[in-house]
Amino acid sequence: MKGVIFNLLEEVVTRQMGTDAWGELVDAAGVSGVYTSLGSYDDAEVLALVETAAVSLNQSPGDILRWFGRSALPLLAERYPVFFEDHKNARTFILSVNDIIHPEVRKLYSGAGCPHFHFEDAADGRLLVGYRSARQMCQLAHGFVEGASGHFGQEVEVEHLQCMLKGDPMCRLALAWNA
Ligand code: HEM
Repeated sequence: MKGVIFNLLEEVVTRQMGTDAWGELVDAAGVSGVYTSLGSYDDAEVLALVETAAVSLNQSPGDILRWFGRSALPLLAERYPVFFEDHKNARTFILSVNDIIHPEVRKLYSGAGCPHFHFEDAADGRLLVGYRSARQMCQLAHGFVEGASGHFGQEVEVEHLQCMLKGDPMCRLALAWNA
């Protein structure tokens, strides 16, 4: 996982839980805690941070990943306004992840293993999002979707129709917006 993700996690934890919280989390997780944005670090480190935060906050690792995604999105919007400015709603923003956002991320952060999503319009108007990754971070995607919806002033309902964490071969999320 690229260091930029660790940097975002540090910023989210520090902003919401105070300056000591990151150091405490790093110590408890037994990870190095020093990450440069362009560096690549073992996925096990991010998992250790997420699992340790989950235990200390009495939540599931998925809840922590989702909270992280939701909280990181406004920071991404500050840092990469160009990815947001052509969009009026979360749907078109999310549809640009495969073709615009993640390809740019791969150029900026060499070696980034960004996921590719499969998008489909459901008969009921929902946007179906297929996701498959060895990292199994559908809850991070869920959090990004919530954060993006908040950015565009929308509310979203997310249903996990299938989930790799439950043994399905891939994750399928169904997204419905109120506006
Ligand atoms: C400004 C917008 C975004 C930026 C800059 C961004 C950037 C990144 C970066 C740097 C990574 C780490 C890749 C690695 O370390 O190998 C990543 C991973 C990921 N991104 Fe994005 N992303 C953005 C938007 C989104 C959105 C909207 C979604 C969800 C729909 C999403 C879903 C994910 C997921 C699930 C991962 C985890 C890696 C995996 O699944 O294997 N991203 N993204």
